[in-house]
Amino acid sequence: MRRVLEVERLRFGFDPPSEVLHGVSFAVNEGECLGIVGANGSGKSTLLWCVLGLYHAGGSVKLFGEPLSRKNRHRIGAVFQNPEDQLFMPRLLEDVALPLINRGVPASTAGKQALAALEAAGLGHAAGRPAAKLSLGERKRAAIAAALVTSPELLILDEPTAELDGRSVRRLVELLGGLTVTRLVASHDLEFLRRLGARLLVLRDGAVMAEGPAADILENRALLEEAGLV
Ligand SMILES: Nc1ncnc2c1ncn2[C@@H]1O[C@H](COP(=O)(O)OP(=O)(O)O)[C@@H](O)[C@H]1O
Ligand SMILES: [Mg+2]
Repeated sequence: MRRVLEVERLRFGFDPPSEVLHGVSFAVNEGECLGIVGANGSGKSTLLWCVLGLYHAGGSVKLFGEPLSRKNRHRIGAVFQNPEDQLFMPRLLEDVALPLINRGVPASTAGKQALAALEAAGLGHAAGRPAAKLSLGERKRAAIAAALVTSPELLILDEPTAELDGRSVRRLVELLGGLTVTRLVASHDLEFLRRLGARLLVLRDGAVMAEGPAADILENRALLEEAGLV
């Protein structure tokens, strides 16, 4: 099995010496969906930011066997918790085309690819509208389209279901569950991750306390209680 991401002994603190992540290790294999679960404040978002190289952490992060650097970071696509951080142009099509334009793709090609990415996310009809006129569920899917448009080999998402209603979550399960790209998803929504068929890494206070298939972890009530998830 090809290793997409290998994280070893990751340590990080905002205000040293108080540490938020205490030596977190895990790997993500090609094509799989790994869910990072844990209570609020357990370190999920911080972990993702360290993996993305946005926070400078101790330990090592390898992408396809190579240390993460400016050279290979473009192989990762990221969707942050707040879609407004990624969608701010006058038209959704321009938001989704922007990552391509930034990579030097000609505008007409970028526009076509952006429209195809929006259509794949069920948002072709909204391409000419500004993100502010869409529902939160639609904005979340648009942010995913903007991350997928560059064909990343690893897709990282932070709390994709936060504040979504049942129907919006279902559409997200359909969209993310239909992808073959390797996915790393931080979420406290266990049911969502189960529906995605994810393997789970359970974080508690910045350390890994368990790892396994979502179906097994969800059955372990004592573990969920200890992790602060129920
Ligand atoms: N920018 C920051 N500055 C200082 N502390 C932070 C910052 N962001 C998060 N933290 C702290 O780091 C810990 C982990 O937070 P976070 O990674 O956001 O957890 P989660 O995503 O699991 O809810 C928490 O104690 C939080 O208060
Ligand atoms: Mg978070």
